[in-house]
Amino acid sequence: MPLPPGDDLDRRQFLRLGGAAVAAGAGAGLGRDAHAETAAQAGGLIAAPPIETVRIGMVGIGLQGGGHVENFLKIPGCRITAVCDIRAERTGWAASAITAAGHPAPAAYTRGPRDFERLCETEDLDLVFTATPWEWHVPVMLAAMKNGKHAATEVPAAMTLDDCWALVETAEKQARHCVMMENCNYDRAEMMVFNIVRQGALGEVLHAEGGYLHDLRAIKFEKKDEGLWRRAWSMKLDGNPYPTHGLGPVANCLDINRGDRFDYLVSMSGPSRGLYDWAREHFPADAPERREKYVLGDVNTSLIKTALGKTVMVQHCTNLPRPYSRINLVQGTKGIFQGYPNRLYIEGRGREHQWVDASAVRDEFEHPLWRELETRAAGAGHGGMDFIEDYRLIKCLREGVPTDMNVYDAAALSAVVELSVQSNAKRARAVDVPDFTRGRWRTNPRLGILGV
Ligand SMILES: NC(=O)c1ccc[n+]([C@@H]2O[C@H](COP(=O)([O-])OP(=O)(O)OC[C@H]3O[C@@H](n4cnc5c(N)ncnc54)[C@H](O)[C@@H]3O)[C@@H](O)[C@H]2O)c1
Repeated sequence: MPLPPGDDLDRRQFLRLGGAAVAAGAGAGLGRDAHAETAAQAGGLIAAPPIETVRIGMVGIGLQGGGHVENFLKIPGCRITAVCDIRAERTGWAASAITAAGHPAPAAYTRGPRDFERLCETEDLDLVFTATPWEWHVPVMLAAMKNGKHAATEVPAAMTLDDCWALVETAEKQARHCVMMENCNYDRAEMMVFNIVRQGALGEVLHAEGGYLHDLRAIKFEKKDEGLWRRAWSMKLDGNPYPTHGLGPVANCLDINRGDRFDYLVSMSGPSRGLYDWAREHFPADAPERREKYVLGDVNTSLIKTALGKTVMVQHCTNLPRPYSRINLVQGTKGIFQGYPNRLYIEGRGREHQWVDASAVRDEFEHPLWRELETRAAGAGHGGMDFIEDYRLIKCLREGVPTDMNVYDAAALSAVVELSVQSNAKRARAVDVPDFTRGRWRTNPRLGILGV
């Protein structure tokens, strides 16, 4: 349930006090919450000891989870040793893929929707990775961290502010990584923009836009895979249920949680028509789909103001006919990049007022990860970006360094789900974005150019 803003303010004050009390307790040698102190020492970017071979438990092996299984089988230094799904045929599929790759058969957990708890309690694992429907991400990650495992999840990490805080608190307390696997941060164009920004070619970044504009009508009405759960969210939430694909990459360009932070947000949804029309056109009059009530506005638009005064527009549109786009616009004092199609304008280069196709600057600005991993990533999910994100996760765990995305990123980006619902319900009134870093955004180091 959405929290009224006042409650959230109280909660933030409470947590600040709580954080101070923990630090004081640890400093006085009381030993309480030594893990939280470790997390704080890491400058808010949680680090953990290196792991030679990362033992992974996979929870939810559907379309996206299956892709991650295939990636991990190609990445050195990790093993999938346990698998869990409510459908035994999916753990069976994963076991076949794992043994075919020459590894021992994983332990299988198929005793229903909470069997991941048994997996987290019994298995000796370094990482629990979940690609379940949205409602299961937080329960799986909390169970993982409470049992001493690092946790990684598909997007969004959480659907409510309370759950965002639960992830932050648990990651700090247990000193475990809690990573939201935002694969779009690793796509070729997004990584190139990040590189362009880091090289200063756009000047100071002042504004960015992102979104998830993807006609999912057919998928939402399938009687399998996402059709079994994703449409249901269109019946219970009016806001932006899936903000992170668009926000993740531009948040990195704006140094969110590492020099700046999301401060407040306004959000507005339009009418809900697309799913009604689809149901009417594809199902007979007596079909249950024709009686469903959708509340999700077909187009939701949110604007976020950052603490440094920058602006971000993020949009969601999955119920209408349209070509795919994540917008991917980054605008600075010296130029602008815009996706779909990828193009840019840098003052003093090329013709005034004219876009340049981004392929013209690829040699100059291609991100090193793409230069080096393109061949290995070929054929992996979503054009290869899923392989690169999985590769980076395993590399960070093996080296014992902070992961590229941490629990604060997971919380700040996922918080937009409930905040957009709150603001939209109140005639687009501004709602505060919690500071999940509790002030550390000011001193956290900026994300560097990531390497192989
Ligand atoms: N990053 C991306 O580009 C991308 C793309 C697609 C999906 N996703 C995300 O991946 C997640 C899964 O999506 P999908 O397309 O693979 O859906 P899916 O329906 O194909 O897969 C979900 C799987 O989870 C299993 N499952 C459901 N409840 C479970 C439980 N309690 N315990 C164990 N297993 C359970 C289902 O049986 C199924 O195999 C979602 O969070 C989605 O948003 C991300």
